[in-house]
Amino acid sequence: MSAAAEAIRRRAGEAPIRLGLILGSGLGGLAAEVDGPRIPFADLPGFPVSGVSGHAGELAIGDLAGQRVAVLSGRVHYYEGGDAAAMRPAIAALKALGAGALFLSNAAGSTREALAPGTLVAISDHINLSGANPLIGEATDARFTDMTDAYAPRLRERLTAMGLDEGVYAWFSGPSFETPAEIRAARILGADLVGMSTVPECILARFFGLEVAAVSLVTNYAAGMRAEPLSHAETKRAAAEAAARFRQVVLDFVAGFA
Ligand code: HPA
Repeated sequence: MSAAAEAIRRRAGEAPIRLGLILGSGLGGLAAEVDGPRIPFADLPGFPVSGVSGHAGELAIGDLAGQRVAVLSGRVHYYEGGDAAAMRPAIAALKALGAGALFLSNAAGSTREALAPGTLVAISDHINLSGANPLIGEATDARFTDMTDAYAPRLRERLTAMGLDEGVYAWFSGPSFETPAEIRAARILGADLVGMSTVPECILARFFGLEVAAVSLVTNYAAGMRAEPLSHAETKRAAAEAAARFRQVVLDFVAGFA
């Protein structure tokens, strides 16, 4: 077991967790509802420390909606330091603590008129347009991780049963937003959503044998679709507006997780 997982167990006890959650920009408020200790990433060996405004950087472990979970608010993005595997120690720790699945959320741009800002979308699959992969450098054959059904069909069904749309998420490295030409290309390739996170965590989670479920909050139409410029302020504003609906989806998902 990693030093981080041991540090978490010392603070939070030995009981296994069912589920890990990594919550994206402005969607981390749920961590406050976890009944248990909070541990700053800075106290956990190998855990990354994010500087993005709107990301807290702490692990909350305990009961949420009747299940023992660990919620990571604040993820580190590839664009922060160029390390696609920055979240590897955190995801390894979730696995070591007993998690069977990882729930991911993010803020995303929409390439489709039908997916308007404010929509919650279950990710059905992804397209990695970043050129990076968190398993580069992994020396074992486990690096050849199967990405078929990476977003577990049985968990996707739970989300669509709650009324969520489904969409394919394309990972761009960021941190600049995409160009309108890149968005047209992504749409032709089959992307409904574009964003700067989630894909590396999904790959790492599958590598460690965790099931994955992921939800995007559409915060804006992607580049070139509207006259207004894109901004992180808009992402944070839209996330705050959708926080109550997002919270309910996560609580229902966690409560029904089996
Ligand atoms: N592009 C990339 N990432 C994003 C966007 C976007 O339009 N909106 C929120 N995160």
